Amino acid sequence: MGLVSAKEMLDKAYREGYAVGHFNINNLEWTKAILLTAEELKSPVILGVSEGAAKYMTGFKVVADMVKAMVESLNITVPVALHLDHGSYEGAIKAMEAGFSSVMFDGSHYSIEENIKLTKDMVDRTRKAGISLEAEVGAIGGEEDGVVGGGEVADPKECKMIADLGVDFLAAGIGNIHGKYPENWPGLNFEVLDAVNNITGDIPLVLHGGTGIPEDMIKKAISMGVSKINVNTECQLVFAEETRNYILAGKDLIGKGFDPRKLLAPGTDGIKRVVKEKMELFGSVNRA
Ligand code: 13P
Repeated sequence: MGLVSAKEMLDKAYREGYAVGHFNINNLEWTKAILLTAEELKSPVILGVSEGAAKYMTGFKVVADMVKAMVESLNITVPVALHLDHGSYEGAIKAMEAGFSSVMFDGSHYSIEENIKLTKDMVDRTRKAGISLEAEVGAIGGEEDGVVGGGEVADPKECKMIADLGVDFLAAGIGNIHGKYPENWPGLNFEVLDAVNNITGDIPLVLHGGTGIPEDMIKKAISMGVSKINVNTECQLVFAEETRNYILAGKDLIGKGFDPRKLLAPGTDGIKRVVKEKMELFGSVNRA
């Protein structure tokens, strides 16, 4: 199967009460680890790419072509969406042209009027292209690839205004933050999540900042309409830790241990482990 829009998989997840994992990719190892795990667990999956990560991999086209070719060469049969994470207006258009099957237009840092205007335009463009669209209200806290959000809690009425434009799924700030959560983090704001879910009807909701949210909060959020959960930092942390352990154990100095195919293997296996844990927690196993 080639790349698919994320709409059908998320509508199904919303209806059936589980969430699909969105895992950010940075390179070939990340992509391979996530695709193989999704296939092994028969889970749908969303590969997220920030504009910074796309630039690192030398462009949207390189990313789209690599992912499409890898889905084919690994005989991946589960639904895979390639999704632009926190796209700017220009970035979303470029990703679409390069062959992404889903984009997020993040207008949360604009006034609500400007966010509505640009998101509406994006609804028209993505519909024409036959791909899915994520929009955002209430900036997610923390910093991701230079995109800094203030950690706002979304206004449910504004969420409804954006949802009614015809977006396919909606990210609403509910106290979630990208990266590690501080010791004194008060947790997700379930009152607001409930209000957003009630007022926006049956549109799947997206939870960003999936790293470090306690399991009970993840499950509760899923029961309140969260159908897509974004995870990035946790895969980066495990990759760094496993690679550090390999080098500190001196394994790169034994035989051909310096070969990147050996050096990067423990980190890649770590990513597989994290992705598996998340898919089990989110309930997406055997839902492909
Ligand atoms: P974390 O890095 O906190 O897992 O957040 C990922 C994310 O929300 C990507 O959009």
